[in-house]
Amino acid sequence: MDKVLIIDFGSQVTQLIARRIREANVYCEIRPYTISLNDIKKFSAKAIILSGGPSSVHDKKSPDVDSTIFDLGLPILGICYGQQLMCKKLGGKVEASDHREFGRAFIHAKENSPLLPESWVVHESQSVQHQVWMSHGDKIIQLPEGFTTLASTESCEFAVIANEEKKLYGTQFHPEVVHTPEGTEFLSNFVHKIAGCSRDWNMHNFLEMEIEKVRKQVGGNNVIAGVSGGVDSTVVAALLHKAIGNQLTCIFVDHGLLRKNEAEQVKDLFSDFHIPLKMVDARQTFLNKLDGVFEPEKKRKIIGSTFIDIFEKEAKRVGGAKFLAQGTLYPDVIESVSVHGTAAVTIKSHHNVGGLPERMEMDLVEPVRELFKDEVRALGRELGLKEDMVKRHPFPGPGLAIRIPGEVTPEKISILQEADAIYIDEIKKAGLYDEIWQAFTVLLPVKSVGVMGDSRTYEYVAALRAVTSTDGMTADYYPFEHDFLSKICNRIINQVRGINRVVYDITSKPPGTIEWE
Ligand code: XMP
Repeated sequence: MDKVLIIDFGSQVTQLIARRIREANVYCEIRPYTISLNDIKKFSAKAIILSGGPSSVHDKKSPDVDSTIFDLGLPILGICYGQQLMCKKLGGKVEASDHREFGRAFIHAKENSPLLPESWVVHESQSVQHQVWMSHGDKIIQLPEGFTTLASTESCEFAVIANEEKKLYGTQFHPEVVHTPEGTEFLSNFVHKIAGCSRDWNMHNFLEMEIEKVRKQVGGNNVIAGVSGGVDSTVVAALLHKAIGNQLTCIFVDHGLLRKNEAEQVKDLFSDFHIPLKMVDARQTFLNKLDGVFEPEKKRKIIGSTFIDIFEKEAKRVGGAKFLAQGTLYPDVIESVSVHGTAAVTIKSHHNVGGLPERMEMDLVEPVRELFKDEVRALGRELGLKEDMVKRHPFPGPGLAIRIPGEVTPEKISILQEADAIYIDEIKKAGLYDEIWQAFTVLLPVKSVGVMGDSRTYEYVAALRAVTSTDGMTADYYPFEHDFLSKICNRIINQVRGINRVVYDITSKPPGTIEWE
């Protein structure tokens, strides 16, 4: 399989480069700039991309890369900082600047090249302007020998440069962001037309490869997987079941903080797939432990450690399992790659089941750790999971406990489950579910006064939340129509006992977070 290596110099959008390359059906990985020349060679890439980054090539400690990579005979594309670094290392000149060019710019091609999008083609020295996105301080003032200019903007002469003979390319704009409309085509041209990568990265091939990999890793040993009903753990379980059959035991700890009917849905799903599932009804244990606890982080800790205790006990009962399966995703692995110093790869604590593998001395099986969320969804489809399941909104490990600010009681859980079910039902009926990253209801710890019929009510307030996002790191509130919100409000107040007021949360992240606790 052809592979592309992306060397990361710390840009906020390096992950997007990887996504675009994979969308072009080519496998790629991101590695920090500290990667050794030896490891670069070992990776056997068919092409290399140097990412952008916040530094100036003139800083003493600016991220660097071994110059030998330019002599490997591989096509290389430098983006922003990557272009400047390439230019400097090959004998060109980069001018330091104390102000940044940020935002939309308009580019025109000067020469034709297989790298440039089709619509950029120069006809009889006439070329049209195209929108690109710039974000840079320093700029190139003199090209290295052998380089020519392929495209320019008004303020940036060397917006795209090339040494076609050596297949070395550089761009000052960011092709990976959506504000560069033809950026995807630009990157696809680089990997296909310039580097000649074949389109062999797809979920069907990945699944076959991964099944082989898992079989090799696990051998004849048993594997335990914790499942939650979410997309990631379900896809992992389905993949492992396909790979190792009854060497896999799935454990589902029902903490009682799930959405309405969710535990039954998980049970049905696993039975449809003939994957044996150990259901552990721990609802009362969790309720007892949460009794009288108000503080969000304390609730999280209690839920985390109770989950681990129960899971560990059940796993021991299964006996003899050497491996623990986890739904770690690629963003969790690369999120913490540090630009300065070592490329420490740490995983978000809630994905690492709170240190469980170490505690139980188990090795990890992580079959989706190279995938982005949308790729996991595609893999789920390849495995035959239903659309309902693969498109399910993310749901936090501590569940409804963090959607009930303050103390969690059985009464509040049940009120929240009912209201949330109505909300999600209406969103699905309106065909909006897939446009929204996450939608849920929060049961506020305040009561408000209302009137119903002739009598006064004094009941809870529900807050509705719906956000769009690409990765959960930033989010915007979803702009529902007012009529739609009124309809949900009426249904909730009429049908759910215990709620007499509904509000809609219009906070973005930042400054808010997606969850309320
Ligand atoms: P916030 O609220 O931080 O959420 O904007 C970002 C994303 O993470 C989810 N989330 C959690 N997931 N355990 C989890 O497994 C947690 O403790 C937790 N807290 C937040 C949240 O639902 C959103 O998708």
